[in-house]
Amino acid sequence: MHAFLTGGSSVAVKEKAAAADPPSSSKSQKSKDGKIKIVPWVEKYRPKTVEDVAHQEEVVAVLKKSLAGSDLPNLLFYGPPGTGKTSTILAAARQLFGPELYRERVLELNASDERGINVIREKVKKFAQLTAGRARPDGKPCPPFKIIILDEADSMTKDAQSALRRTMERETKTTRFCLICNYVSRIIEPITSRCAKFRFKPLDDEILSSRLKAICEGEGVEIDDKAVATVLKSSEGDMRKAIMFLQSASRLCGKDSAVSGDIILDIAGVVPEDRLEQLVSTCSSDSYEDLDEAIRGIIMDGFAASQILSQLHDNIVVNENLSDKQKSIICEKMAEVDKSLMDGADEYLQLMALFSTVMNQICHGN
Ligand SMILES: Nc1ncnc2c1ncn2[C@@H]1O[C@H](COP(=O)(O)OP(=O)(O)OP(=O)(O)O)[C@@H](O)[C@H]1O
Ligand SMILES: [Mg+2]
Repeated sequence: MHAFLTGGSSVAVKEKAAAADPPSSSKSQKSKDGKIKIVPWVEKYRPKTVEDVAHQEEVVAVLKKSLAGSDLPNLLFYGPPGTGKTSTILAAARQLFGPELYRERVLELNASDERGINVIREKVKKFAQLTAGRARPDGKPCPPFKIIILDEADSMTKDAQSALRRTMERETKTTRFCLICNYVSRIIEPITSRCAKFRFKPLDDEILSSRLKAICEGEGVEIDDKAVATVLKSSEGDMRKAIMFLQSASRLCGKDSAVSGDIILDIAGVVPEDRLEQLVSTCSSDSYEDLDEAIRGIIMDGFAASQILSQLHDNIVVNENLSDKQKSIICEKMAEVDKSLMDGADEYLQLMALFSTVMNQICHGN
């Protein structure tokens, strides 16, 4: 009835049975044996349709047109984490093909799958070559192509990306590609030029707070405005982070008490403002020993160096006692330290290097 594959695909036949339940469409919170399943809120509140995706108007407009029957280009989504990239394409694919065709028409590969050059040559190429029909089993029309989603594409090797180029061009009749990544500079130019690029913006505070409040309402969580503001500040436009903080905090507080700002700060690992101020003022003492003691103390308290770095940056940028030149020297050091931390350098040594620079600038720079 819905045989659209003329390439004799065994994948399609095998997976037809499971087709009715595409990945993140499971709304139900009860498993088959009747037990209540605990669904993480990020999954439970993942947008189910492209209309649900907030703040990404351009891409939603393009996808809506394609849902209404026009063609879809190859897509490249990029932007910071937790802004809706994966959710958007999954929702669009589900709407285009419906639950039954989903498995047959969509090949989803992410960083957890092997995506070396051989997989691109064999699995992706084979899937791309299969032809696709125009009708869904439920009679509704559907586009005559398949979608290959390459999530976290910035972790694919250059060779694997190069191997995609020809396939992308040759199979345009039957296949659309959607590449998703955080860092678009890691995607090779020939691929980016074959795709319509969409940048996903960090979500602004208004949208985040209205979504968070809706989730709190749905889950019966009590939260005050101050706590919401703290979640927004600590999540920096990353909706996934915000929802995770909220869920962890509500677990910690229990059902009866309200989620407070302090608990959110605790969960997010944010260094209290006065503690950071204290650290910066230690730098004015021009005493290496005092600095050593303060840094050891803050590390012993379990604060992450990357968190201290990002908060120190915000502090330095608005610090009125430093000249622009001094700020620029400190920020340059921050960039070095950030890179070293990412490469796995020792946190204590890196923080000492950074705060020594701050100390030097405060006491001797001008
Ligand atoms: N624009 C958005 N509108 C509505 N919900 C969103 C949006 N962006 C993120 N979310 C929420 O955040 C969660 C994570 O989103 P998603 O997995 O799509 O992020 P992503 O952009 O793919 O991130 P990453 O780059 O880390 O893979 C979703 O489950 C959803 O609840
Ligand atoms: Mg994603």
